[in-house]
Amino acid sequence: MNDQSGAGKRIIRPLPERLINKIAAGEVIERPAAVLKELVENSFDAGATRIEVIVEKSGTKLISVVDDGCGIDSSQVEVAFSRHATSKIADFDDLESLRSYGFRGEALPSIGSVSRTRMITRTPESEVGTEIIIEGGVVQNVKPAAAPVGTKVEVADLFYNTPARRKFLKGETTEARHLTRYAIGLALSRPKVGFSYSLNGRRMFSLDNSQPDLKSRVRSLLLPGNDARLFEVVSDSDIMSIRGFLTSPDKLRQNQYGLFVFINDRYIKSQTMVHAITAGYGELLPRGNYPLGVVFLDIDPVKVDVNVHPTKAEVRLSQERQVHDILYHAVKRALRETPGVSSPSLDVKGVVSPERLTASEAIRRAGAFDPEKPSVSSQAVIKELYGHSDIAPPAEAEGDRSDAAASISVPADESEKAAGEIDLDRVIFLGRLADLYLIFKCDNMLMIVDQHTAHERVLYEDTLKSIETGAATSQNLLFPANIELAPDRFLLYEDSSEVLKAAGFVAEPFGAATVLLSAVPSAVSKKSPEKVFLEVLEDIDSLRKAGRDLMKAVAQSIACRSAIMAGDRLTEQEALALLRQLLATENRNCCPHGRPTILSISKNELDGKFGRK
Ligand SMILES: Nc1ncnc2c1ncn2[C@@H]1O[C@H](COP(=O)(O)OP(=O)(O)OP(=O)(O)O)[C@@H](O)[C@H]1O
Ligand SMILES: [Mg+2]
Repeated sequence: MNDQSGAGKRIIRPLPERLINKIAAGEVIERPAAVLKELVENSFDAGATRIEVIVEKSGTKLISVVDDGCGIDSSQVEVAFSRHATSKIADFDDLESLRSYGFRGEALPSIGSVSRTRMITRTPESEVGTEIIIEGGVVQNVKPAAAPVGTKVEVADLFYNTPARRKFLKGETTEARHLTRYAIGLALSRPKVGFSYSLNGRRMFSLDNSQPDLKSRVRSLLLPGNDARLFEVVSDSDIMSIRGFLTSPDKLRQNQYGLFVFINDRYIKSQTMVHAITAGYGELLPRGNYPLGVVFLDIDPVKVDVNVHPTKAEVRLSQERQVHDILYHAVKRALRETPGVSSPSLDVKGVVSPERLTASEAIRRAGAFDPEKPSVSSQAVIKELYGHSDIAPPAEAEGDRSDAAASISVPADESEKAAGEIDLDRVIFLGRLADLYLIFKCDNMLMIVDQHTAHERVLYEDTLKSIETGAATSQNLLFPANIELAPDRFLLYEDSSEVLKAAGFVAEPFGAATVLLSAVPSAVSKKSPEKVFLEVLEDIDSLRKAGRDLMKAVAQSIACRSAIMAGDRLTEQEALALLRQLLATENRNCCPHGRPTILSISKNELDGKFGRK
């Protein structure tokens, strides 16, 4: 226990303003992206028609924002950097009807207290501008300076005087991703404002204001070089109006990076609204997938409390449930009314659905399971285990195999034994189920292999090994592909380029956010090079978010994208080769995603199931 007797002697006194600002900065300016956001929002509030953002060293060296807005009068420049000084609200009622981004008068003093900041600003009424320099919250200099109308803020050496915060920054790539996400969000929020953004010496995008059209801005920022369809979402009700553009279900992502929600033009994070959107897609959206696009909700400001989060990244809505439901119905309706959008086909190539089989045909096919004794029971076992009973006899003809299946190599030395307790010489291939499950027997053991997950496991270990040893083989493209990437994808490519190269992708940066792809890993050479490159980037993104290391993520993605699929028909030889390769892997029981590759059922277990024990 503390000695309370000294308590009376403790003096309570107000903290110096500099310290208060620094403490506030801890909440308002959590990372470089927050500086970018605050400065750009100030530019929007100043009525800018053009904004230029330049970021160096992912914001730790410089974040510069230049606008052509109303500027700040020389008498107000110093005040702008003092805490709770704002031109945007005067009393509480203004907060209730807020339309501006700023209202607290905290951003500039916070930024000024944790960096070396220089602002040059001029109003249209003034002949000459003003320059102010602030370092660690201390005004160094204020003087007249020649300047165009508008404001330029340069924030250098962010967190130079708060080492703990600097240390907690996540590394340049992560900060760059946050910065870019905010830059995209802000540029989307005001299509009428020209916006350019350069990051670490590279121009990521530059959008003029001659085409102030939301749809084309969404396209240029989120889907450059892509002709994916966008459908429009509109709705008007007493509670709110909605306007947005979302991609149709053929263009989805496995993360929310491309989905932006705005409330009264403010880019916010809201899982409730993301839920409303994804629920609106219903079955059209496979689990864990998200569309790309934007949704703007315009709600009476009285019903929106923006003063609930230190970085204003979240808002509180008084009618959240209704807003959610209206958005959900709007998305659902819009999708229904979009021509050509329907339930994804559940038909997998070559699979005969059980209901299309006549009973006698099902029994005949089930017979392939044990040609000697075709019986309803064998069919029943399969049905109980797998929910359906379409067993096809093993394919005999070589010509029957698909291209993908051809990528399984049959080892030359047939007598070579696979690792593990199963004696491959005694394995008999019984047949295929739904062109997906391969059924084998070995003595008294029944083995069922999922051909896709098994092949994934084999390819994953092979690919990982070749990345690690530099033994990956590439297939040169006859015509190198010029691939334009969205800004966040370009960053991801840069971040992963070494490993992608080791895996066999030969790609060079080409212009601002474009890569020239001239070779792909041999394993995926049968696929469209552009498609596979984009898919692999997409996979890396989600796998890394899930904590996978980069090499493993690349190997996993290539394995998944090149593995044989459900519906690919394997010959008996290929099936046996796949089993042999699977048994030789280090982790044979599951694919890199963790799904099972092989199930074994012993005669004993079957006896149990049939009540023989
Ligand atoms: N780019 C700019 N152009 C014109 N005026 C600006 C600009 N940036 C800041 N100001 C002025 O400086 C004031 C203080 O800015 P600051 O960002 O600290 O507070 P705010 O925007 O009012 O509120 P908040 O802390 O919520 O952002 C603003 O109210 C505005 O009058
Ligand atoms: Mg502000």
